[in-house]
Amino acid sequence: MNIRKYRFAGEDIRADIRDRIGYDGPLLDIYAAHDGTVVNKWHHYLPLYDRYFARFRGTAVRFLEIGVSKGGSLEMWRDYFGPDAQITGIDIDPACAQYDGHAARVRIGSQDDPAFLARVVDEMGGLDLVLDDGSHRMEHIETSLRTLFPSLAPDGVYAIEDLHTAYWRRYGGGFGNRANFFNTVRSMIDRMHRWYHDHEAQTVDIGAPVGGIHIHDSFVVLDRGLDAPPVHSKIGTA
Ligand SMILES: C[S@@+](CC[C@H](N)C(=O)[O-])C[C@H]1O[C@@H](n2cnc3c(N)ncnc32)[C@H](O)[C@@H]1O
Repeated sequence: MNIRKYRFAGEDIRADIRDRIGYDGPLLDIYAAHDGTVVNKWHHYLPLYDRYFARFRGTAVRFLEIGVSKGGSLEMWRDYFGPDAQITGIDIDPACAQYDGHAARVRIGSQDDPAFLARVVDEMGGLDLVLDDGSHRMEHIETSLRTLFPSLAPDGVYAIEDLHTAYWRRYGGGFGNRANFFNTVRSMIDRMHRWYHDHEAQTVDIGAPVGGIHIHDSFVVLDRGLDAPPVHSKIGTA
């Protein structure tokens, strides 16, 4: 699969996002007018970021981005979340250390190293928001998720992007392959509904309850949820 055919070939990024995607929120200007180090994004991610991350703007959100690359996305997030946000980026590439202390804190290590991740979370004092834009390998995505999700605040959010790789063998995925991350997502749906069937033992436990699962093209968002059975009641007169 050659995804070069999806590379934006026009001149006006802003117009494409505004007119074709239909997004005119704050990330439009922040992204389209970005003149710092390189950041590249699929255009349809911008409204998704804003939809799920907006409530953290202007707060002291503890935000972890997996995957720093040229540091451009950390600059974008600083512009978006504001001066009080505690932003940390991690990357396996030691060259990314040069971005430490610019828009964010940067730590070097692998997203599939639970001890490293635990040190990062410890330094951050917890987590409110995670964006996995790292290796995009199935086993790495799973290890990071299982390690970091239980550290999320009770109303925390965990987003994973570029999940088209779930369909690609070279990322450990593949159509119909058991390791395809969307099979894990499917199992998380089954676990969320464990109250209604007898197969909890066959479901994936990522160490903390999942309250919501939002699936978009290549982009999954998981809300931390309650660890309490559902209740229903009847109210009103007959
Ligand atoms: C898609 S780029 C990140 C782009 C950046 N977030 C942006 O939007 O500009 C992916 C990054 O993940 C890093 N990476 C690859 N494997 C990794 C791993 N095992 N742990 C942490 N980072 C990894 C790469 O070095 C690369 O910089």
